[in-house]
Amino acid sequence: MRSMSFKSRGTTALSLLLWTLCACPGLARAQDVRPDAAPGAAQSAAPDAALIARGRQLAVAADCAACHTAPKGGVPFAGGYAIESPMGAIVATNITPSTTHGIGAYTLAEFQRALRQGVRRDGAHLYPAMPYTAYTQLSDADTQALYAYFMHDVKPVDTPVAETHLPFPFSVRASMAAWNAMFLKDQRFTPDPAKTEQVNRGAYLANALAHCSTCHTPRNTLMAEDLGKPFLSGANVGPWFAPNITSDKVHGIGGWSDDELVQYLKTGQVHGKAQAAGPMAEAIEHSLQHLPEADLRAIVAYLKQTPAVVGGGTSTDIRPRHAFGDASRDEVALRGLNDVDPGWRVFSASCAHCHQENGTGTRNGEYPSLFHNTATGGDRADNLIATILHGVDRTVAGKPHFMPAFGDDASFTDRLSDQEIADLSNYVLSRYGNAAVKVSLEDVRVARAGGPKPLLAKAQPFLVPAAVLVLLALIALVLRSRRAKRARRSL
Ligand code: HEC
Ligand code: HEC
Ligand code: HEC
Repeated sequence: MRSMSFKSRGTTALSLLLWTLCACPGLARAQDVRPDAAPGAAQSAAPDAALIARGRQLAVAADCAACHTAPKGGVPFAGGYAIESPMGAIVATNITPSTTHGIGAYTLAEFQRALRQGVRRDGAHLYPAMPYTAYTQLSDADTQALYAYFMHDVKPVDTPVAETHLPFPFSVRASMAAWNAMFLKDQRFTPDPAKTEQVNRGAYLANALAHCSTCHTPRNTLMAEDLGKPFLSGANVGPWFAPNITSDKVHGIGGWSDDELVQYLKTGQVHGKAQAAGPMAEAIEHSLQHLPEADLRAIVAYLKQTPAVVGGGTSTDIRPRHAFGDASRDEVALRGLNDVDPGWRVFSASCAHCHQENGTGTRNGEYPSLFHNTATGGDRADNLIATILHGVDRTVAGKPHFMPAFGDDASFTDRLSDQEIADLSNYVLSRYGNAAVKVSLEDVRVARAGGPKPLLAKAQPFLVPAAVLVLLALIALVLRSRRAKRARRSL
């Protein structure tokens, strides 16, 4: 299951209330009139092959298939994938050009409105599970190319998908209007003349198309990318943690060479540094590995000049998260000690045959070392726990990279309990990674349940009673002022 970045849900009562109360300095408000929203603009013109081919490339760079094609052999863009969010599952819709169940009736202007303002053809608001907060930056030319591709090169599929039913108040799509007014920066990308062409290209790729920030930037209590918190400084994505990828040499990716970063984005694997699992594996498998090398270099040039930010997956230690630990030296002596460590017993039974008893992995790196590994050296163990629960499943250049899952999807004999995973994680951290990080039973329980719940999701059961209280208070106020007026009149 793709767990969602948080992609955000709004609330009626809460966000409307906050919207009216908050002055929201620095937050752009939606502008209602789009000069480029002339209906049917591109439909009449016969699209040429070059435009369609360009649209196809853009759809890959924007990773539309990650959500709109159901995993494991779903029909391209026919939808049906239920994306887990803290507020409930949101179903990605059919965006094939079917006129009955897809987007076949969309005009170019309607298509642009969906990508940029998150509004459906029938005027209903989309949830930001659809990353329109990023796509809003797409140029006119690129939205036209995408439109030409979807209308003329994607096969129409006339089958419906399940409807999304979120619990009240998230079920009220109109509340997203207030959310958008607060958080949607409805603006096209403008190159920064002070930066090189390559950096500007990278910024456009990373921010408008590949939407890196929807996972790597922290979210606020209303599930929007937190404009008060530093961009790309690290955030939870369900049970995973998308680390700080700013230019900071210790806390971000500033200590990686350009070639290593390009290799990571292309393959998901840099020996002695990191591997990509979970949502990052999906981004690489469906999108990033297919980008031309020049585009990956542009993204890396852009990352390398982002403002350096401290925190977000790395402790205050002077070492970057990929520089912790080394092989257990004296294996025989260790074994004596290890026999009494419950984590060792799990490790030797479930992990050692691939990652080796001393954690070095295999020489060719196919089974990676557990030291010098960002999953074990950070200031948090999310990616270690999530990897144990969900494994690794990433196909790059036709070759699968696979580690089995030991969580609920595992076969009965492989499945590990919360206690076993906590013991195992603490063993791995103390032996190979950042020994200062400790994993509790509760950490594992939360990860197994899908990751930390944001405040908004936790508050959901109380939002209805809260709204009722506000309403009662308003009624009481109105009644009182009427009574006061009547009393004044009768004087
Ligand atoms: C991270 C997941 C994700 C990605 C990536 C994504 N979408 Fe979506 N999209 C969704 C979801 C979920 C919905 C339905 C949201 C809802 O019901 O509120 C949606 C809805 C839409 C709709 C509205 C269709 C309708 O009438 O119901 C269009 C159009 C659309 N997406 C086009 C695209 C295009 C084009 C791309 C790539 C440029 C893309 N999407 C990428 C998740 C995604
Ligand atoms: C769907 C969510 C998602 C998107 C989109 C995404 N990432 Fe990630 N990224 C993650 C997660 C989660 C991890 C941790 C993966 C792991 O360790 O297995 C990660 C890891 C990384 C790492 C390795 C960091 C480390 O210390 O191990 C880099 C570099 C990175 N991402 C860059 C990017 C760039 C650049 C983009 C956009 C082009 C991007 N990511 C888009 C979720 C995402
Ligand atoms: C069948 C072989 C196999 C077994 C068993 C196995 N792993 Fe892995 N492990 C892999 C492979 C393959 C990768 C990913 C390599 C890649 O991405 O290129 C991996 C990756 C990892 C990573 C890095 C993930 C990331 O997101 O950065 C960690 C941590 C890890 N394994 C820990 C464990 C632990 C703990 C166990 C025992 C429960 C275990 N592995 C069992 C093969 C295995």
